[in-house]
This record gives sequence, C-alpha cells and structure tokens, in this order.
Amino acid sequence: MSLSSQPDPAKLAAARAAVALVEDGMKLGLGTGSTASVMVRELAARAAADGLKLRCAATSQATAELAESLGLNVEPLDQIGWLDLTIDGADEVDPDLHLIKGGGGAHLREKIVAAASDRMVVIADPGKVVDRLGAFPLPVEVLQFGFETTRTLIRRALQAQDLGGHDVMQRLKGSDPWVTDEGNVILDLHLEAIPDAVALARALSAIPGVVEHGLFLGMCDLAIIGKSDGTVVEL
Ligand code: 5RP
Repeated sequence: MSLSSQPDPAKLAAARAAVALVEDGMKLGLGTGSTASVMVRELAARAAADGLKLRCAATSQATAELAESLGLNVEPLDQIGWLDLTIDGADEVDPDLHLIKGGGGAHLREKIVAAASDRMVVIADPGKVVDRLGAFPLPVEVLQFGFETTRTLIRRALQAQDLGGHDVMQRLKGSDPWVTDEGNVILDLHLEAIPDAVALARALSAIPGVVEHGLFLGMCDLAIIGKSDGTVVEL
C-alpha cells in the first residue's frame, strides 16, 4: 500500500477479480506480498459482506497475522487439508504462466500451499509480465548449515548451464541476513535471463542445502493482470 493507504489501482483490480472467484465454503491459500495483502483485505471485506464461511491457510506469518486481524479464519495447512484455490502474487509471469516468486522471501511456504491447491491464481500488475523469466533475481532458500558450500554448489550448477559469472547474493535485512519463516536464509541469483527454466529448476533442486527455489513451473492455472484503469486481463 502507498503512504496514503490507498492500494495501487492495478493491484486492487487484480485482487478484486480474484476474490470474485471465491465461493462460500471454500478452503483457500492466501499468498504473501503487497498484491496478496490487497487481496486479503478485499477477501475479508467480501467475506464479511456476503457472510462467506471460509477456511484459509496462510503462506507466511505476515499474511496470517493480517488475515486474522481482519477476521478471516486462518488454520494450519495440515488441519485444512487440500485447498480449493490459492491466490498469490508473483515477481514475474511468462507467457506459459511460469513464475518467479520469492521476492518477499515466502516462496517455500507459497510453493507448498500452491501444490496443495486445486487451482492457483496469480494476481499482478502489468510490470510483472515478461517474455522470458530471469530479469528479477531468482530467490533460493537455503539452509544456514553449510551456507557457503551450498552457494559454491549453486555457482557450479549455474556454470554447467552457461549461466556462470552472475552474482549469487545473500539477501540481507539491513546488515543482517534475511531469515525466512522457516529459519533459513536466501540467495538471490542475478541471472538477467533464464534460457531453460526447467533445467535450472532441476539442477537447483538437486543441490543439498537448497530448500526451495522460486521457479514455479506448471503450477499457475490463471494469471489476472490488473491495470491502472481498473480493468483486468487474464492470461
Ligand atoms: C513473496 C512473493 C510475492 O508474491 C512476490 O514477491 C510479489 O510481491 P508483490 O505483490 O509485493 O510485488 O513471491 O514471496
């Protein structure tokens, strides 16, 4: 949200269109980030206005706290079980609905929640739509144990994919390491472009110490792109 607390109109348009997909009794996954926050506020308002009974699993502590503060029913994922719909933001969306996520450092829980959903809907503003993934630094959540070893293994994997020489930067919060909700840390891979996302995803997943990367391939069913005039485009 902006300083004036007015949500960005493009994010609001996408959030409203996604919330319109919600039906009474649904089990929902709630994403993380500024666009997802707008959606959570819209969802809470609609649930209150229409008397919807919903069960929600949050993808981060921040989202859980926001949703609960607005009166939404938030439960642990395993208590709910399978979800009908997850609505989340993204850092990049390509024409095949492959995503980069994790700009907010929540991609591990986001991927688990999306994988536990019948349907994943991404909401975004037009700046997130790309022809090819990779301009946004790819987040990789790694264990703190053996952190430098894991970074070396990631660099080697990148070299093997002709992506050597790019920065593999530890994400910081001020001067301290960024620590995720799961107690891990994040490496951001500044790749500029990812020629083969499937191969890169496979290589990263094979590295001990990598907990989860931010490539969401074949997981998104629909992307709703909001525009500043309040209209949306569906991909
Ligand atoms: C958090 C995410 C977010 O969905 C992504 O970073 C987009 O955030 P925003 O809506 O604030 O641009 O993946 O881990």
